[in-house]
Amino acid sequence: MRIGVLTGGGDCPGLNAVIRAVVRRGVSEFGNEFVGFRDGWRGPLEGDTRPLGVEQVRGILPRGGTILGSSRTNPIKLENGIERIKSNLAETGVDGLIAIGGEDTLGVADRLSHEGINVIGVPKTIDNDLGATDYTFGFDTAVNIAMEAIDRLHTTAESHHRVLIVEVMGRHAGWIAFHAGLAGGANVILIPEQDFDLDRVCAYIERRFESQYSPIVVVSEGAKPIGGFPEKDGVQTDAFGHERLGGVAHWLEGEIESRTGKEARATVLGHVQRGGTPTAFDRVLATRFGLHAVGAANDGAWGKMTALRSTNIELVNLADAVAELKTVPPELYREAEVFFG
Ligand code: F6P
Repeated sequence: MRIGVLTGGGDCPGLNAVIRAVVRRGVSEFGNEFVGFRDGWRGPLEGDTRPLGVEQVRGILPRGGTILGSSRTNPIKLENGIERIKSNLAETGVDGLIAIGGEDTLGVADRLSHEGINVIGVPKTIDNDLGATDYTFGFDTAVNIAMEAIDRLHTTAESHHRVLIVEVMGRHAGWIAFHAGLAGGANVILIPEQDFDLDRVCAYIERRFESQYSPIVVVSEGAKPIGGFPEKDGVQTDAFGHERLGGVAHWLEGEIESRTGKEARATVLGHVQRGGTPTAFDRVLATRFGLHAVGAANDGAWGKMTALRSTNIELVNLADAVAELKTVPPELYREAEVFFG
């Protein structure tokens, strides 16, 4: 069998570990051949491929990013996108695809699967917001990077008696903020799932100063105050219609300073959270997803996605995986509130 592999959407640590596992098991156990499609759905759309064999995956396990490249290309929005993919797959002699991606990439995979294309999905995203799997790889690495930043910010905040605000990724789901904030001892955690009350945030900050410590506020990029932000001009969106986020920490900086009179500084972690080498947890999860994905392809289990359920890797329908985003439940968020202020 000849299998195409692609990685789509925002990159994340562990993508190379999946690719390596797919190729190593596919070649040694099933005698598969592989072809790499470059830059997510752009590869099959334009027939842009690269060789992918055991030679090409040597040494990539600890490397961040993806040797295949990635993009947010959305073939469904392009004229004849699906037909172009079908004809390029036929021309490349590919029997099926393994698509490694988040909600958008897997949403396309699900659509293509309904159009008769053989696809297996592998869930990735640092945001950990995909339904049907307990965890996605990349998340643990991002949380550890954010936690380390928070640890470092504590000491400089204390020295200068400042409020330090850390903005982490998380468009619709506050998993990174919640986990990194809890692990790093944040004094306030703000997530997209719960609009925040600025007066309450300021009260927490003042209470923290009363105990002679400096507050650390961890905020997801998608968090917003009750009532929303003042209107913004020129909002940029990607091919899947997602707004380019970022800036809530700087907005909070100004609001907190004017309301509390305390000096506040923002740190935006941005793409640092997505770069570099994966943690051991992510390497193992990504490797297991890859091993099971190529097994599923050889079993002809098309239209499925690998998922972590407890400690087992299971196959779920692609449609179930993209049906609903997994967000932080209110009762879990409340567990962290005991440390606020
Ligand atoms: O989807 C993963 C993610 O890292 C989000 O947390 C973030 O909002 C987005 O990607 C940023 O995307 P880009 O790198 O395309 O700006």
